[in-house]
Amino acid sequence: MRVLHVGDVMGRPGRRLLKNSLPRLREEMALDIICVNVENSAHGFGITEPIYKELKTAGVDLMSSGNHIFDVKGSENFIGSLENLCRPANYPEGTPGKGWVSMEKNGERFTLVNLMGRVFMPLSDCPFRKFDELYPEIEDSFILVDFHAEATSEKCAFGNYADSRAGAVIGTHTHVQTNDDRLLPGGTLYLTDVGMTGSYEGIIGMNKKAPTERFLSGVPRKYEVEKHGKMVFNAMFFEYDETRTIKEFSKLAIITEV
Ligand SMILES: [Fe+2]
Ligand SMILES: [Fe+2]
Repeated sequence: MRVLHVGDVMGRPGRRLLKNSLPRLREEMALDIICVNVENSAHGFGITEPIYKELKTAGVDLMSSGNHIFDVKGSENFIGSLENLCRPANYPEGTPGKGWVSMEKNGERFTLVNLMGRVFMPLSDCPFRKFDELYPEIEDSFILVDFHAEATSEKCAFGNYADSRAGAVIGTHTHVQTNDDRLLPGGTLYLTDVGMTGSYEGIIGMNKKAPTERFLSGVPRKYEVEKHGKMVFNAMFFEYDETRTIKEFSKLAIITEV
């Protein structure tokens, strides 16, 4: 099975790049499953129902998210109805939405799990224990964990904790791709952060002005998604066989002029 996991899609420019890239990549790379982190797909903050449909139509199979998933006002009322989308599984009990989504492909089950770290992140339950708790429900599938976290140490610790149980642990949230993709001793594919899909020239996908002023003054500013200049499509590709052994993997960081 050939899978692509795409990092946080930033607003309209990110969505446009995704829509332009997916048909070609699906064909050229013979992809079976495409997963995308969508927590920033609506103007950089959250997701709407129309955007969910737009991404499905563009060829996205399963969607993960993170701390921005409820940023669109009222989204707690529809997140649970978006069939192929998951939000961090370790949100407290009773939070709308689901923590993992499964699909069948070529007679095999594939599951995308979303977990969120707790270091420099909003409060949540323990992602390590949450994984232990949900694992029996999904262990008959290939498991891709989108581990949405800030601290590299926490991500690396989780990757090793889930080694041999998860098929792949791919980090998101920092929007910056790391260069440490590798197979862990138990066979799990691990990458600390896959990066994001959006502006290459802004600051983690945002126009430079507001974040720079914020760092200089300490005063919060309204962030705007950067629409101009070079764009980057960041993703992780991997292939696994019928025994769920990873056969091949590579990072993608495709930079385009717009
Ligand atoms: Fe993000
Ligand atoms: Fe995030």
